[in-house]
Amino acid sequence: MDYKDASQRLLSYARPQWRMLSTALLFFILGSAVEPILPAMFKKLIDSGFKEGMDYPLWAVPLVVIGLFMVRGIFNFGGAYVMNSATSTMVLNLRRDLMRALLKADAHLFTTISPGLAVSKIINDPQHASTTMGGAIVSIVRDASTLLFLVAYLIYLNPALTLISFVSMPLLGVSVKLVRKRLTKVGEAAYLAQQSLVGTVDDNARAWRVVRTFDATDFELNRFEQQAIHHRRMTMKQVAASSLVTPITQIVAAIGVSIILTLALYQAQQGSSTVGEFVSFITALLMTMSPMRHLTDVFQPITGALITARGAFELINAPPEPDLGTAELPECQGKIDFKDVYLQYEGASNPALAGLNLQMQAGQTIALVGSSGAGKSTVVNTLLRFAYPTSGQILLDDTPIDSLKLASLRRHFAVVSQDIVLFEGSIAQNVAYASPHGLDRAKVENCLKAANLWNHVLTLPEGIDAAVGTNGSRLSGGQRQRLAIARALYRDAAVWIFDEATSALDSESEAVVQRSIEDLRGSKTLILIAHRLSTIRNADRIYVMSDGKVVEQGTHTELIARQGLYAGMVKIQAAD
Ligand SMILES: Nc1ncnc2c1ncn2[C@@H]1O[C@H](COP(=O)(O)OP(=O)(O)OP(=O)(O)O)[C@@H](O)[C@H]1O
Ligand SMILES: [Mg+2]
Repeated sequence: MDYKDASQRLLSYARPQWRMLSTALLFFILGSAVEPILPAMFKKLIDSGFKEGMDYPLWAVPLVVIGLFMVRGIFNFGGAYVMNSATSTMVLNLRRDLMRALLKADAHLFTTISPGLAVSKIINDPQHASTTMGGAIVSIVRDASTLLFLVAYLIYLNPALTLISFVSMPLLGVSVKLVRKRLTKVGEAAYLAQQSLVGTVDDNARAWRVVRTFDATDFELNRFEQQAIHHRRMTMKQVAASSLVTPITQIVAAIGVSIILTLALYQAQQGSSTVGEFVSFITALLMTMSPMRHLTDVFQPITGALITARGAFELINAPPEPDLGTAELPECQGKIDFKDVYLQYEGASNPALAGLNLQMQAGQTIALVGSSGAGKSTVVNTLLRFAYPTSGQILLDDTPIDSLKLASLRRHFAVVSQDIVLFEGSIAQNVAYASPHGLDRAKVENCLKAANLWNHVLTLPEGIDAAVGTNGSRLSGGQRQRLAIARALYRDAAVWIFDEATSALDSESEAVVQRSIEDLRGSKTLILIAHRLSTIRNADRIYVMSDGKVVEQGTHTELIARQGLYAGMVKIQAAD
């Protein structure tokens, strides 16, 4: 995406706010229109105030001065207020779209973007892009109109002199263009530098325990320091480039002013202008310096805003997960078939699934076992369409799952995955997570009991309303797992998947959870993935996976009798 696209996209967010934006700009223009009145007043004051018999009462002077500033102040306040109201709506809309993009993005995005970077892109970037761009536009409109009004007044006073001052303008244009090119280059570098800073902070907030266990505080500080210094250097380069604009314009402007000053004085010597005219002209001329400087100063914010906006739009443009299915599956029995499924992850050299065949009848309890990396979790990922098979077919109740709408497919699964993720909030909120029927406290209690977490809840003063901490950091590993199990139990799904769901539990606790799971047998299709084989021996069917294929299948007794891979694994575990 280039900057033209980025600015057009940003513009598309500004367009719906055009009423507010133009009101704000009108306010600023009206405020600017007041500016030339000041030098005009000087003319009047001097030309008639220093003569006998003023043609206005003295008290009118302070009144007009105060009045002028008040009017200007009111316009500027109104402008700023309306402007911010418009830009904050822009920020809101941008954030909403960014969040939607994140929520719908393809799984691949999450292998490239850290949580911290996502936060930064959704929270900081829209704010920075919109407010900076808004500020720049205000500055352009306010200063350009001020300049325009002042120049108009100057022309009215002394057209010849004013036109002479325009001679220096092309010089200004060339130098500003050069600086702007440099600004874009260093601005991009600064944005990238900030991204790596965000990544490091993100790592350290997440992995703080690992960092300290490895005694890596200094290592991490050093890493951060390097990046922070690099970021500072890039920022300084940015500042240097943009600060260069000011002296350049000042010098160019000074050339113009000095020419005019000389000529004006010369004219005054000739007696062709009054003192008032002279003072008024010079005042108005000097007053143009400040808006002129502001105008050349807006390049940095504009390039900065566009660089940030481009970063944010890259997230908005992230490809969404394909949701091409059109069929609905309102009721699901839970029958699953994998037919010769192949899957190779992006960048992997070996397939994770290599001709996988699985049959699960509705209401059966199925176990997937096999060594680490055999492809068990990948089976779950493909079932939920977080990963897409390169060939083969997966059927749910005899319907190919790729013909189903994603929401219609996923609705029928409750999964306790290998890496437990909990949400900020209370235990109850985690159990009844996103439940369409709201929070049923009695059901929450039952699920917690079934997951053998109720005894722990009883020890908490706030019970099920106790906060779990960031990602459940106030719970033990096993408690986190049981909370995730309770969350799955709460969901009325046809297929329940437990991927190493009891791996962190002690045998006693595991037995309790096991019994709860046994209670479900028959009513749900259960897929149990476990390394501890004692937990799956009662399964209706056990599939032994190796290198993405099923190499043995049968009941526990059948497989033991076969004296194959499974029997060997059981023997090794029994010996432990
Ligand atoms: N997102 C990914 N990108 C690339 N390769 C992946 C990805 N996820 C998994 N893999 C690879 O696919 C293979 C199967 O992984 P999978 O997670 O299915 O194994 P598993 O049987 O669940 O193992 P474990 O018992 O350790 O959980 C592994 O070799 C793994 O390295
Ligand atoms: Mg796994």
